[in-house]
Amino acid sequence: MQSLCKKEVYEKKIKRVIISKEEIAAAIEKAGKQIDEWYDGRPILLVSILNGAFVFMADLCRAVSVPCEIGFMCAKSYYSGTVSSGVVKITMDLQQDISGYNVIIVEDIIDTGRTLNDVVKMLKARNPLSLRVVTLLDKPERRLVDFKPDLALFTIPDFFVIGYGLDYAEYFRNLPYIAEYNTEV
Ligand code: IMP
Ligand code: MG
Repeated sequence: MQSLCKKEVYEKKIKRVIISKEEIAAAIEKAGKQIDEWYDGRPILLVSILNGAFVFMADLCRAVSVPCEIGFMCAKSYYSGTVSSGVVKITMDLQQDISGYNVIIVEDIIDTGRTLNDVVKMLKARNPLSLRVVTLLDKPERRLVDFKPDLALFTIPDFFVIGYGLDYAEYFRNLPYIAEYNTEV
């Protein structure tokens, strides 16, 4: 593969914008109101799954009005080639003891569903007061385990997307919009 560091290659990989930054901002404002309604003044802990969800987390936490703490954890799905092995490993755990917290997991995208299925099981075992999942993007066609988020801001078809936290080979996370990745150039 040609190096993504080369400007010409890098720019060609951004095939087309599928969700603009204005559309993302409007959806996050709505999601913030939904969260305020769910918790009605009660405090929450937003848990972001790194690395992909860091941009979404930064905007979502500023769209809620209930008292809010934030936490981060890093979960990695291991792939053999392009196929997920189904093994999810926590490479960095939360600092907080979540018993006594209303927890919302903040994820960038749900694909096969394996990562969140495992993370949810793990966090539920720690006895939070409540646990919900909010994802920016959902690709339900790709699901391999039965998993539904409490809120998905956008449902998209089965193609690889980049931007707004999402990467290809660690690049493109800083794009302010969500784009389709061009696999053909
Ligand atoms: P799952 O366990 O298959 O649901 O994996 C979800 C993880 O795979 C996400 O948190 C992303 O890190 C990654 N992922 C899945 N689809 C995409 C995509 O279209 N673009 C970028 N990353 C993706
Ligand atoms: Mg991710």
